[in-house]
Amino acid sequence: VSTETVGLLLSRIRDVPDYPKPGVLFKDITPLLADPRAFTALTDALAALCVQHGATKIVGLEARGFILAAPVSVRAGIGFIPVRKAGKLPGATLKQAYELEYGTAEIEVHAEDLGAGDRVLVIDDVLATGGTAGACLELIRRAGAEVAGVAVLMELGFLGGRERLEPALRGAPLDAL
Ligand code: PRP
Repeated sequence: VSTETVGLLLSRIRDVPDYPKPGVLFKDITPLLADPRAFTALTDALAALCVQHGATKIVGLEARGFILAAPVSVRAGIGFIPVRKAGKLPGATLKQAYELEYGTAEIEVHAEDLGAGDRVLVIDDVLATGGTAGACLELIRRAGAEVAGVAVLMELGFLGGRERLEPALRGAPLDAL
């Protein structure tokens, strides 16, 4: 992406101190979503990555990942597959647990949505510790599909998510706009 686009996107991300708890600087993307020029630039940049990495399906991670991934799938003309927090999908699912700061969480996908021959690009707003994205890559592989890459708007480098995700990527690209 161009320096101009990066500048536009950065200018529409709001820092909210002490949210959701003291000491955390929250990156709020709602100003970006409310600005059609910025949202279009983001959608175009992510759709270009789909083409570049030869993706045949897009996975969005609940909830903010859904907002970014859905228009990309329409723009790129490839299917959107939701990976949801456990208990939200009605059909037969594959589940994957992952570590949180305290305790564990679980995500799931409809088993029939992914399979052999699919090349999947995972889209989310933020890569923090990498726990969510790592669990998602497990799900994709367990479904028999291939990982085309992970694409996020922001990477919080100081949390070491890229390093933690590295083994699960198995050489697939991680792009942070
Ligand atoms: C946030 C964010 C990513 C994830 C990143 O989602 O949207 O999905 O955390 O964190 P990690 O790299 O440490 O796993 P959250 O679970 O807060 O859900 P939300 O999108 O529903 O707010």
